[in-house]
Amino acid sequence: MEWGMKNRLSRIIQSDGRCFIMPLDHGYFQGPTTNLEKPYKTLQPLLPFVDAVFCTRGVLRACMPEDLEKPVILRVSGGTSIIAKDLSNEEITTSIEEILRLNSSAVGVSVYIGSEYEKQTLMNLANLVNDCEDYGIPVMGVTAVGKELEKRDARYLSLCCRILAELGARIVKTYWCEDFEKVTGGCPVPVIIAGGPKCKNELEVFEFVSNGIQNGAIGINLGRNVWQNPKPLAMAKALHAILHNNATPGEAYDIYRETN
Ligand code: 5RP
Repeated sequence: MEWGMKNRLSRIIQSDGRCFIMPLDHGYFQGPTTNLEKPYKTLQPLLPFVDAVFCTRGVLRACMPEDLEKPVILRVSGGTSIIAKDLSNEEITTSIEEILRLNSSAVGVSVYIGSEYEKQTLMNLANLVNDCEDYGIPVMGVTAVGKELEKRDARYLSLCCRILAELGARIVKTYWCEDFEKVTGGCPVPVIIAGGPKCKNELEVFEFVSNGIQNGAIGINLGRNVWQNPKPLAMAKALHAILHNNATPGEAYDIYRETN
C-alpha cells in the first residue's frame, strides 16, 4: 500500500485500530434533517469524541471551518431524494479533482444490492475506486437498503459487504444485525457499523455497538442516535468509551447518565 493511502487510512482508523465516524450527510437525500439544520453547530461540541466526519462537499464548503482538524470522508454518491420513487438510483456526484481539492481523507459511496439499480451503484463504486486508487484516496463502500429496513440480516449484509470489498472498497460500512460475526467474518476489509433510525433507548444503542465491536467491527458511523438524542454530548462520550476504552454497555450507560 502506498504511503498516501496508508496515511489517509491512519488519520481515520486510530492507533488502537478503532474509529468513530460522525455522519452529517443525511441532507444529501433528505434535506434539513432534525438537529442537522446547522451541521457545524451540531458537530462542534462532539469533536473531542469523534475521529472523522462524513459529509458532502456542499456542507464541507459552506458550513465547516477551514481549520477543521478531523479528517473528512466525503459523501460522493447521490442524485435522488426521499420523495423520489426509488432511493437507489444514485450516481457519483463529485469529481476526483474536487475530492483532491477538498483535501478528503476518504470518500463514501452507497451501493444498493438487490435493487433495481444494483449494477449502476456497483459500477459507481468500481469506477470511483479506479479514480481514487490513482491518488491514494480510500473508498468506503456503504451497504444501503433505502426504505427496505427489513433487509438488514446477516445473510443479506454478508453478501453485500463481501461484494463491496471485492470491488475494491478499502472500508465497508454496514448495519449491525444478529450473527454479526458472519458479516465481518466474510469481509476481507475493515467493517464499520452504521446507525439507522433512532433506537428506543440509549442502552439499546450501546448494546448493539458493543456486540458489533466484539464481533469484529472496527468502528461506528452513528448520526441520528447521537445528535437526535436529548444529550448528544453524553452519547458521543459514552460511545467513544465503548470504542476506545472497551467500556461495557452498562459502563457506557453510566457515562451517559453522568454527562450533561
Ligand atoms: C446514509 C448514510 C449515513 O451516513 C448513515 O445512515 C448515518 O447515519 P445514521 O446513524 O443517522 O443512520 O450513509 O446512507
